[in-house]
Amino acid sequence: MLSIATRSLKSSGFKPAVRCLAAVRTKVTLPDLPYGYDALEPYISTEIMKLHHSKHHQAYVNGYNQAEEKLQGSFQAGNLTEQISLQNAIKFNGGGHINHSLFWKNLAPKSAGGGDLPQGDLLSAIESEWGSFDAFVSKFNAAAAGVQGSGWAWLGYSKESKRLAIATTPNQDPLLSHVPLLGVDVWEHAYYLQYKNVRPDYLKAIWEVINWKEVAERFSKAQ
Ligand SMILES: *[C@@H]1O[C@H](CO)[C@@H](O)[C@H](O)[C@H]1NC(C)=O
Ligand SMILES: *[C@@H]1O[C@H](CO)[C@@H](O)[C@H](O)[C@H]1NC(C)=O
Ligand SMILES: [Fe+2]
Repeated sequence: MLSIATRSLKSSGFKPAVRCLAAVRTKVTLPDLPYGYDALEPYISTEIMKLHHSKHHQAYVNGYNQAEEKLQGSFQAGNLTEQISLQNAIKFNGGGHINHSLFWKNLAPKSAGGGDLPQGDLLSAIESEWGSFDAFVSKFNAAAAGVQGSGWAWLGYSKESKRLAIATTPNQDPLLSHVPLLGVDVWEHAYYLQYKNVRPDYLKAIWEVINWKEVAERFSKAQ
């Protein structure tokens, strides 16, 4: 009886439970946007949002899942060479997935408070660091415009110094020194279709749709 049951389970493609759990545990999925593709018009076009979310972010999700699946295989095979060779793909695609998941929440349509200025503790912290909100925006935009090639600009919070800071990270260097509160994608795919090569115009427009409520929540959790 038992051997028949086992054989039929095997022939139906059944895999041991442990393997299924491992696979389930590590898969990531593309999160839904918290608003429509056209909701950030005219500041970020429908076309950009659609491609950025459904193609670029999806590619990070797929790349991460594929690398993670190969990694499981290399653990089972005890192949250390392969484990090491997968680290870049895991870091790049996993980083892209995390960054973009944060980015979508950092934005909001005007009708949902996008662009409404920060208040309370967050505003005080920004003012004590940079003098005024406008001065912060100028500094942030200058830093973001200065990122060579692809990268991200961040407003981060240092738990050590208990201060806010602007940071930029090129390519794949992770932001390790600060808790990310606000991340702005300055890869060309984030603006080129609408703003061509004029990154500063994109950076000027994006403040109209920043979700400062979300940033403030991250700030209070980080403290
Ligand atoms: C280990 O993985 C590497 C890279 O994928 C591969 O070239 C190599 O053949 C594997 N080694 C063994 C013993 O399977
Ligand atoms: C993700 O963010 C890090 C900074 O934390 C950045 O250096 C990296 O380029 C980003 N990864 C991708 C794939 O966008
Ligand atoms: Fe992006």
